[in-house]
Amino acid sequence: MAYNNLLLLFFVLVLTSASMSPVSNELQQKLKNPAVVKFREYLRIDTSRSEHLHQAVEFWKRQASEVGLDFAVYFPAGKPVCVLTRVGANPALPSIMLNSHMDVVEADPTEWTYPPFAAHVDDDGNIFARGTQDTKDIAIQYLEAVRRINAQNVTLQRTIHITLMPDEETGGFQGIRPFIKTPEFKALNIGFALDEGGASPTDDMFATYQDRRAWSIAITVNGVGGHGSTMASDVAIKKLQRLINVMMEYREMLEKALESADKATYGLYPTLNIDMINGGMAPNVIPETFTLVADMRFPPTENATDMLSLVYSWAAFAGNGTTVKFLRREMESLATPIDESNPYWVTMNKTITDLGYRLITGVCPGTTDMFDIRNIGIPAIGFAPERWTISRLHQPNEYLNIDVFLEGIDIYVPLITNLANLPEK
Ligand SMILES: *[C@@H]1O[C@H](CO)[C@@H](O)[C@H](O)[C@H]1NC(C)=O
Ligand SMILES: *[C@@H]1O[C@H](CO)[C@@H](O)[C@H](O)[C@H]1NC(C)=O
Ligand SMILES: *[C@@H]1O[C@H](CO)[C@@H](O)[C@H](O)[C@H]1NC(C)=O
Ligand SMILES: *[C@@H]1O[C@H](CO)[C@@H](O)[C@H](O)[C@H]1NC(C)=O
Repeated sequence: MAYNNLLLLFFVLVLTSASMSPVSNELQQKLKNPAVVKFREYLRIDTSRSEHLHQAVEFWKRQASEVGLDFAVYFPAGKPVCVLTRVGANPALPSIMLNSHMDVVEADPTEWTYPPFAAHVDDDGNIFARGTQDTKDIAIQYLEAVRRINAQNVTLQRTIHITLMPDEETGGFQGIRPFIKTPEFKALNIGFALDEGGASPTDDMFATYQDRRAWSIAITVNGVGGHGSTMASDVAIKKLQRLINVMMEYREMLEKALESADKATYGLYPTLNIDMINGGMAPNVIPETFTLVADMRFPPTENATDMLSLVYSWAAFAGNGTTVKFLRREMESLATPIDESNPYWVTMNKTITDLGYRLITGVCPGTTDMFDIRNIGIPAIGFAPERWTISRLHQPNEYLNIDVFLEGIDIYVPLITNLANLPEK
């Protein structure tokens, strides 16, 4: 190599290290933080596939043993539910449940900048993976907060259960729903639950006290089938067209109403989407049926009986022989009080306020495991310490910044401590 080239190389190396090292050194240190290591390890388990859930169970079993928590796994409907328990000084008091779900929605790698289950960290400290926001972050934050509370030798009066559900993304039918009916769940004696919340693009954080009701509706239209060269009048596609038109007219109205909504009030509006249309078997055969599946969510202000009439009116409008089948139909969604009557809420709001942050309360646009928890009379608040974070739930390039992740642990330490030391009413 010529002398000039060597000199050039020398300058390049010196300049690069001078301009890069301060930032990346700091990031390198953060990447070694055991909480971050655990978070990335958990993210690398592709729990979009239920056959991988057992790896998550093994992961949590190991965490329980490392932090000194009791560990139990239940199979209320075939899929695993993990419970990590820290017994309180006064275990007769109602316990605190720290819930999250192990499953994540699927991720198409071709839509992602980094592989969705690699937990890649970019130069800005953003951790990319499916589940960084929904909801593997809070699971590790709960664990690390409890680890820190243990290290501080702080006495907690109430028992704490870190619970990890399967199947939340598909409605909880093999997770929270059967689990809350078991004697094992009742034995947890839960007084209050924290569960997933939304990312906030500002300095404030969200607290949700109610979920919208979710309906999943399969509507099937029927008509005359036959050879693709014939032209019967009563064909199913005409009815499908009428059905789509009337539903889209309603959707248009909802879209207009949403234009004036901000993020915090989004949960107060109904939404409607047609997510699937099935029909047809061959290019030259007129199908006798088409089935459409719609996803409706509606807020507490909407009357469920009226919504039911609306859906049946669409079916009637589509034409004769149209049938409606509800894959999911929630008629009631109970709210958790966010006033003086709820000491858990008062404690939570005070803790966050004392830390210098603000909680914006609202209705959760989605339907989470808390829907079922609240409906059996247990107060639950949806919360995620994700300030200055763009919500990327179910989207490509879901990520969480490393500083936001670590700050979350700092927030949960006093929050869990204060909730668990709340005296009995
Ligand atoms: C916690 O208690 C243990 C055992 O009593 C003790 O060794 C340790 O120093 C204590 N830690 C703190 C932070 O007080
Ligand atoms: C909903 O509306 C129906 C009539 O459409 C009415 O009978 C019922 O009382 C309403 N329910 C509530 C909770 O307002
Ligand atoms: C719809 O009504 C017409 C006229 O009564 C009848 O011929 C047809 O079979 C009906 N179609 C279905 C799918 O019920
Ligand atoms: C939460 O606490 C703040 C500060 O005390 C208060 O202004 C706010 O009204 C409280 N929010 C609710 C919903 O109770």
